[in-house]
Amino acid sequence: MNTPYSNTDRSFFIDQVIPNLHNEFPNEIQDKLLIYRRERVGKPIIYVGVTTSSIVAGALQTIDAIQNYIDENDIEAELVRVGSVGMCSFEPIVDIQLPGKTRISLKNVTADMVPSLLDGALNNYIQAGSAFFQYASPIHEAWSDIPFMNDLPFFSKQNRVLLRNSGVINPDSIIEYIAWGGYRALAKTLRQYTCDSVCKAVEDSGLRGRGGGGFPTGVKWRRALTIPTNERYFICNADESDPGAFMDRLFIESDPHRIIEGIIISSYAIGANKAYIYIRNRYVLTVERMQNAIRQAYDMGLLGYNILDSGYSLDISIRLGPEAYVCGEETALIKSLEGKRGMPSIKPPYPTEIGLNNKPTVVNNVETIANIPDIMNNGADWFAAIGTKNSKGTKIFSINGKASYTCMVEVSMGVPLSTIVDLAGGVKPDQLLKAVHLGGPSGVSVVPEEMEIPIDFEELSGLGIPMGSGGVQILDESVCMVDLTKYFMHFIRNESCGKCIPCREGSNRMYQILDNISRRPYSNEGHNTLERFKGVIHLETLAEVMRETSLCGLGQTAPKPLLKALKSFRDEFEEHIFDRKCKAGVCRDLRTFYIDVDKCTGCTACAKKCPTSAIIGTPRSPYFIVEEKCIGCGTCQTTCKFAAVFFK
Ligand SMILES: Cc1cc2nc3c(=O)[nH]c(=O)nc-3n(C[C@H](O)[C@H](O)[C@H](O)COP(=O)(O)O)c2cc1C
Ligand code: SF4
Ligand code: SF4
Repeated sequence: MNTPYSNTDRSFFIDQVIPNLHNEFPNEIQDKLLIYRRERVGKPIIYVGVTTSSIVAGALQTIDAIQNYIDENDIEAELVRVGSVGMCSFEPIVDIQLPGKTRISLKNVTADMVPSLLDGALNNYIQAGSAFFQYASPIHEAWSDIPFMNDLPFFSKQNRVLLRNSGVINPDSIIEYIAWGGYRALAKTLRQYTCDSVCKAVEDSGLRGRGGGGFPTGVKWRRALTIPTNERYFICNADESDPGAFMDRLFIESDPHRIIEGIIISSYAIGANKAYIYIRNRYVLTVERMQNAIRQAYDMGLLGYNILDSGYSLDISIRLGPEAYVCGEETALIKSLEGKRGMPSIKPPYPTEIGLNNKPTVVNNVETIANIPDIMNNGADWFAAIGTKNSKGTKIFSINGKASYTCMVEVSMGVPLSTIVDLAGGVKPDQLLKAVHLGGPSGVSVVPEEMEIPIDFEELSGLGIPMGSGGVQILDESVCMVDLTKYFMHFIRNESCGKCIPCREGSNRMYQILDNISRRPYSNEGHNTLERFKGVIHLETLAEVMRETSLCGLGQTAPKPLLKALKSFRDEFEEHIFDRKCKAGVCRDLRTFYIDVDKCTGCTACAKKCPTSAIIGTPRSPYFIVEEKCIGCGTCQTTCKFAAVFFK
């Protein structure tokens, strides 16, 4: 979708807004900006968050219902699509802004709720329970009895620097992005900075890569800039393939122009005239929003030949990735961009020396790039003042798993991990927090005793915990650690490109060992238990070999989740091996079912269905399960109408 703008809009922004490098505008421009930002409106505006996550929650049906309501009631109102404020569990989120009143956010607005909600809201009445929060505004009347955004711990505990436009502006509108301050960092950079001085600013800011490695961004840029060549490339890594990580994707869908602006400045800094955005083929809406943003930037003269008459030219193209985890690794990504099979190669040489088409290339993550416009606007010192000594700025996390709320949040570096748990509302009621898993399939599960560790590259890595790219899974007691590590190893085994033997064979062997201990032993003999135990001992040697000899980060870090789980949850592994029990009841093979004699009516239903005839008894008296015969299939539990069957 391309949100149109007129030639007058274009010249207003190009001639009067973007070139203004100070934050002060004459009153008539300020007034116009308020209108473009929809801070001053003459008719009701209804905003609907439309992103990949809200579409799953029914946002498209909600938007259709709102359009029908507007048409049927002949209401003069504007319907605007926005991105995500990050609270995915409350989607679809609908905001309403009436002339003179603050913008109010309503949660979980499904299509069927639309007529009654709008009947009320358009007449200044909000139904109890539907309000989420209201935005603060110095010029508008507030709604009574509705919390302001920052009254909610979900927002007040965050530091929303990068996410400040997310869920607020229309991602398909370049003029809204500019009206909110966008592309002025670009103008400032092109007018006042040389390539070298941009690299210096980013070095001084202390920005480190957000894609997982945490390498200093300015240092990386300077390496590419100082290699003599006739051509350099910049690549935005938007592959985001860690299971459970969705922040890059949601961020692009909410504020794509921030990434485009960051890419232009980054490309200028390293002297590149061609940039690529590498993104997964499957991320349809994400790609669509990015494509639209690129098209609009070209139309505005912010991309292409002689940007803003600076003499600098840049072309950006989108390249679709094939959904292979390893293609997110930078050398594999470059191969994939070159049309070859996406397999990693040995470093050095680094892409900054020999990258795409054998030319110096910088690969940066989406979030890393998103920080650049603010650094150029506000200065390196401003950025360096946020966070800790070694980890500057903020970090975006996507939180899911057993969290009370699935969400995307942004916090200052240095806040404790417990803040992340709090932001997601902790675990669901009646459950206990078991761990927080950081860093995806090669990350680790952090136990509750470690929850006060600050989010800081050095502090975390000192304890063997990778920061990762920001995907966080909250785990409660219903999660089996053997099963979870097995899942990650299964993922790694399937995603290994197979180039090196330790990764290809090692991940397969590790998976087999884990699978073996999560299954019913093939015999009850003691030697079988010993074999399962020996397998676990073998894991540590295997891990060492994989770490030392694998070619890329995938194989080198693959054993991490397992080794940490073995350390923190050793009792659970031993229980699986020696007692043949899975207390979470997740490893189906290891469950043994029992019948509660007080609840059993002796109806015989379970005995008739049990595939191994493990259930015996006399009708109308309590039945029993013969433990040795029970295969843990759970047929009895699903059959029993009296909730008499349980497992241990
Ligand atoms: C198996 C594997 C997958 C990766 N996937 C991604 C990814 O999806 N996105 C990303 O930005 N970096 C990913 N990386 C890290 C990249 O190789 C690279 O370090 C990063 O894009 C550099 O950007 P940064 O300096 O801005 O963090 C992956 C690394 C490995 C080993
Ligand atoms: S470590 Fe694994 S994924 Fe990486 S190159 Fe070797 S086989 Fe491929
Ligand atoms: S189905 Fe339930 S009530 Fe009936 S015999 Fe089995 S355990 Fe007892």
